[in-house]
Amino acid sequence: MCGIVGFLGKRNASEVLVEGLSKLEYRGYDSAGVAILNHGDINVKKCKGRLRNLEEKLNVEPLEGNLGIGHTRWATHGEPSDVNSHPHCNGNETVSVVHNGIIENYLSIKEWLTSKGYEFLSDTDTEVIPNLVDYYYEGDLIDAVIKATRKMEGSYAIGVISEKEPDKIVAVRKDSPLIVGVGEDEYFIASDIPAVLNHTRNVYLLEDKEFVIMTRQGIKLVNEEKEEIKKEIYKVTWNADAAEKGGFEDFTIKEIHEQPKAVKDTMTSRIVEGEKIKLDKISLTKEHLDNIDKVYIVACGTAYHAGVVGKYVIEKLAGIPVEIDVASEFRYREPLMNDRTLLIVVSQSGETADTLAVLRDGKKKGCRVLAVTNVVGSSVSREAHDVLYTWAGPEIAVASTKAYVTQLIAMYTLALHLASLKEKLTVEDIEEIKKEMLELPKKIEKVIENKEEIQKFASKHYMERDMFFLGRGLDYAIAMEASLKLKELTYIHSEAYPGGELKHGPIALIEKGTVVISSLTQTALRDKMVSNIQEVATRGARVMAIAYEGDTEVEKSVEAVIYIPRTLDLLAPVLAIIPMQLLAYYTAVQKGLDVDKPRNLAKSVTVE
Ligand code: M6R
Repeated sequence: MCGIVGFLGKRNASEVLVEGLSKLEYRGYDSAGVAILNHGDINVKKCKGRLRNLEEKLNVEPLEGNLGIGHTRWATHGEPSDVNSHPHCNGNETVSVVHNGIIENYLSIKEWLTSKGYEFLSDTDTEVIPNLVDYYYEGDLIDAVIKATRKMEGSYAIGVISEKEPDKIVAVRKDSPLIVGVGEDEYFIASDIPAVLNHTRNVYLLEDKEFVIMTRQGIKLVNEEKEEIKKEIYKVTWNADAAEKGGFEDFTIKEIHEQPKAVKDTMTSRIVEGEKIKLDKISLTKEHLDNIDKVYIVACGTAYHAGVVGKYVIEKLAGIPVEIDVASEFRYREPLMNDRTLLIVVSQSGETADTLAVLRDGKKKGCRVLAVTNVVGSSVSREAHDVLYTWAGPEIAVASTKAYVTQLIAMYTLALHLASLKEKLTVEDIEEIKKEMLELPKKIEKVIENKEEIQKFASKHYMERDMFFLGRGLDYAIAMEASLKLKELTYIHSEAYPGGELKHGPIALIEKGTVVISSLTQTALRDKMVSNIQEVATRGARVMAIAYEGDTEVEKSVEAVIYIPRTLDLLAPVLAIIPMQLLAYYTAVQKGLDVDKPRNLAKSVTVE
């Protein structure tokens, strides 16, 4: 996820662009840059780090010119660095491009352009775009951009400028957001409305493959055949603060809604039907694996809970025994790590102190270290031998939601990869799981759409003092995460127990009115879980169950059932956790709490 802006008018473009980018920093902030066209020359200033670094650079060496494009980056391909920052240019810097999205086939385009004499400086996917535009340029920038996009697969919102047509910006989107701002004798493009709100409230909301041709004479929107598109101006009536959250009340609910896309992005180019799983930053081979006799997964908080699912699925699919621990315990228990150990660390931020300490200790002891992280260029991504990025985009809300589900996807992907290295599953088995995984984004959307039932339950129970989560197998793994979410967001005391442990003590806590939440997605354990639900219901508990569509029998003993679409039991955590996230969220909202920044918590725990 990145933010792009473009400006054409009479004012100093770099000032307008930087101000616009400041409203998009929530989309990424590991580097920033602008390209300004002045007297037919493109001048680029870009650097690693926050936007203020770019501002300082521009204060020392200001850029003249009143047409340009700008970018704030959330690295996906290539670590945050000056050279990987946008805008990117072709070799002789006659074309410059800002891009938000992922060009999935960039490697084959790069090879093809290289064979035609083009050279590349960065590790980014984006750099192929200015070179494609240069390659296809035959006197008309819009033609070149249309041809370039025909070659590109994946998602993009791009802004393009060219020295050959110095009074023009061309832009287009596909599966990444882009709007056009229409001011008085000045025009804008941006990834999101707040970037233009200080200048205009009149915007065009672009659809996929609608091309913008912006000149001093005005704006023309065309389709791929260059036929003009007539579009209504949308008048923005809300304020900038709300818009940065994409119209959502807060980042937490926005990020919950972003989960279908985050899951899809994390699978992109890795899980493809009929193709082998591709993990580009993982060089772990069958030989490495044959030499490994122990696997540890180590992490903290939500990432640890994703690791619990990881243990289960790696053991089941790849047949490798896995131990899981929280980093703060693991590091001080003199773990038995050596050169026959595979250490998997999971961390959204990639900067969590305890997790990082375990990684470093593991390396010292000769382990092979594989990191699952969301932040390109983070400490764990730099220090691990292998990296599996989750592509959730920046997670702003302190309580993790979309990062968690993408960590689950990473765990499935890794388990399948290990299983195929170990030749533990047939190609047909792997294909079946992949096929179901590819269905998950749509199914998550369906679960989110069904939020009213959860809202109702939350509005009845938001004043509870305690809540309990029960589950068996993978349902227990997500019960732990659900319980953490409830604590973090609502400050309600909660505990997660395996259903089978109930009679060994916890059932003493159940009394008339106690709220119990339980999911029933593990077919082999379903009847046992129903018995556990009956045991607590008989003692007066009010139960909310999460069950597969069609499992209506469970309605008899519970106050509410939230149905989720059927999937493989193994993948069910990705769907079953969503109602529990929503329950925590709506309960917190009912209580009037600050959901994005719960008390006493920080997004990244960089001290132990
Ligand atoms: O950045 P990390 O994934 O390493 O962070 C680990 C935990 O601090 C984090 O998951 C924490 O538990 C969140 N607040 C959960 O919502």
